[in-house]
Amino acid sequence: MSRKLMVAGNWKMNKNLMEALTLASQVITRAKKTSGKVEIVLAPPSPFLHTINSMSKDLGFVKVAAQNCHYEQNGAFTGEISAEMLKSMNLAYVIVGHSERRKYFNDDHSVLSKKVTAVAGAGLGIIFCCGEPLDVRENNNHQSFVQTQLSDSLFNLSAEEMKNVVVAYEPVWAIGTGKTATPEQAQEMHAFIRKIISEQYSSEIANNCTILYGGSCNPANAAALFANHDVDGALVGGASLHSDQFLQIINAREFLPVR
Ligand code: 13P
Repeated sequence: MSRKLMVAGNWKMNKNLMEALTLASQVITRAKKTSGKVEIVLAPPSPFLHTINSMSKDLGFVKVAAQNCHYEQNGAFTGEISAEMLKSMNLAYVIVGHSERRKYFNDDHSVLSKKVTAVAGAGLGIIFCCGEPLDVRENNNHQSFVQTQLSDSLFNLSAEEMKNVVVAYEPVWAIGTGKTATPEQAQEMHAFIRKIISEQYSSEIANNCTILYGGSCNPANAAALFANHDVDGALVGGASLHSDQFLQIINAREFLPVR
């Protein structure tokens, strides 16, 4: 079985309602012209999730993801959204562990591990983000840093649950900076992530796990990143806010061979 190719757009806290619906409809219209072999994931702000999910439901390869959720199922947590709620909206994925959540909202290992458990328990897919800050890379500790992120927050999942996980390697120094990891840096880390998943679970689970690159991915650098054996797609921030750029990244993934 070849593993799933994916290009996901994390819109973060951008777009008002009309802008969000316009962008979603542009992406969906253009997605119809693709072969469907690349799964396209839209992660809009939470108020727009339900409408955008309804807009995309006729295209099986266009899915919608929440950018975050709480780890409790319900209760007195004003302003929060549970994985169960997202499940009831038939969403496909929840992004867990984005570096902005880690930095600004104190999503540490113990919180993330509970979120991972809650999302898996609700039966939703997880897009789990990991990645090192600049000083860690400069000190050549990036592999052990990412290994700790995965083992502390993700590897409490069962093998069955792990089959619904997409890993997104997003080096913090590349996010929103215009500074992309080189294709070699991305490949090296993706291969390492696949190796530790294989050691923790099995080579089959590791080989079937979709691993995305994130961090200043754009139409100019996407093809070179995707040309690497272990780079299955991208989690795109800024460029996903423009349908033409996002579609160019999807096209870059489409025209490279399936693994
Ligand atoms: P940029 O593509 O804007 O660097 O953002 C990447 C990201 O954080 C996706 O989750």
